[in-house]
Amino acid sequence: MAWALTPLTEEQRSIQAVAREFAASELAPFTDEWDRGAYFDPAIIGKLGELGFLGMMIPEAYDGLGVDTLTYLVALEEIATVDASIAVTLSVHNSLPTQMLLRWGTEAQKERFLKPMARGELLGAFALSEPDAGSDAASLTTQAIRDGGDWILNGTKAWVSSGTKGEVILAMARTDSPEDRRGARGISAFIVTPDLPGFSVGKKEDKMGLRASPTVQLHFSDMRVPGDRLLGQVGSGFIYAMQSLDNGRLGIAAQAVGIAEAALRHAAAYAAERKQFGKPIKEFQAIQFKLADMASRVAASRALLHAAATAKDRGEHITQFSSMAKLLASETAMWVTTQAVQIFGGYGYVKDYPVERLFRDAKVTEIYEGTSEIQRIVIARELYSR
Ligand code: CAA
Repeated sequence: MAWALTPLTEEQRSIQAVAREFAASELAPFTDEWDRGAYFDPAIIGKLGELGFLGMMIPEAYDGLGVDTLTYLVALEEIATVDASIAVTLSVHNSLPTQMLLRWGTEAQKERFLKPMARGELLGAFALSEPDAGSDAASLTTQAIRDGGDWILNGTKAWVSSGTKGEVILAMARTDSPEDRRGARGISAFIVTPDLPGFSVGKKEDKMGLRASPTVQLHFSDMRVPGDRLLGQVGSGFIYAMQSLDNGRLGIAAQAVGIAEAALRHAAAYAAERKQFGKPIKEFQAIQFKLADMASRVAASRALLHAAATAKDRGEHITQFSSMAKLLASETAMWVTTQAVQIFGGYGYVKDYPVERLFRDAKVTEIYEGTSEIQRIVIARELYSR
């Protein structure tokens, strides 16, 4: 039983139910197959688009669903409970590129890119990291140089989720010069599309988990980007990326809560069925204590996430809250899935039961959109910033 510690409105409950039914009918029958084959099914994105799930927080004026952050995260958790790969695809699209376009895009950029993205016709991606710039994102070296009205970009972006299918990629590149480096203030954001000359998709990562979400490198080789693809102001791209990651981290927290909730449910059901020493193992206190701690941590993670979401919807500064939600939820997902594997014993270590996949899927939530160590840095810094 998933505790909804934040009272949900009728509309929120009905969108949650749509997500739950979609996950049960359209995802659950294929999740294991997609995981094994590392297969991403673009048709699913089309179906999610028809439900409005690709434009959840985009206003109706831009063809979105126009719901608040809490509604979006509640729906995302339902998807993640069944398929964490589809959940990250939705999270990146809804939290990062679409929000960047909504907030800093021109009306022409919104018309051309945001509206079809909100309708689910174009999938978004976010390209900040590079092979040598992960946690230290501001050290990125992809260079953009002005050429008449255009920009010429050279460099390699790494760990790009949805990268093989991403049709609108918000990419960060340096616009300062090697003679006048400006750190984080020397980075700008560009709207990149795969049709640009000089764009190519590189190595597809062979990952431990989230195998049905394609993660790739992108190469920009003398890639000519028209001037009207610059997002917002020159030199503000890093700030845009950081502000967007405040949203993104809430999405990853919802994904992590979904993974943990699924592991808890599977473990509780298995403990009721599995008999050893003449009785169901749920009768043993060792198992009861594990399940109690798992349930408590899932509930605490969800409560913090929902509090952060409602703070965001009230227009509050959520950098610290968002990092706390992501940190707690991701470490909970890893811990809860580890306990679930333990409860399943040998059966938890093989692919016949879903906890093996959940354990693998959980790990990356402690790594992407800022490692747990980076979240702790952000949380600690914020303690002194006000
Ligand atoms: N909101 C607004 N502005 C922010 C901000 C935020 N949350 N965080 C930083 N800034 C601003 C700062 O105020 C500063 O602005 P000024 O120039 O005006 O002073 C500027 O950005 C630089 O900030 P810092 O000095 O704090 O920068 P830093 O180099 O010390 O880095 C960091 C800070 C928190 C470590 C940051 O680099 C970081 O978050 N690293 C992790 C990177 C990350 O999360 N990557 C995710 C990759 S995307 C991904 O994983 C998506 C996916 O596909 C799933």
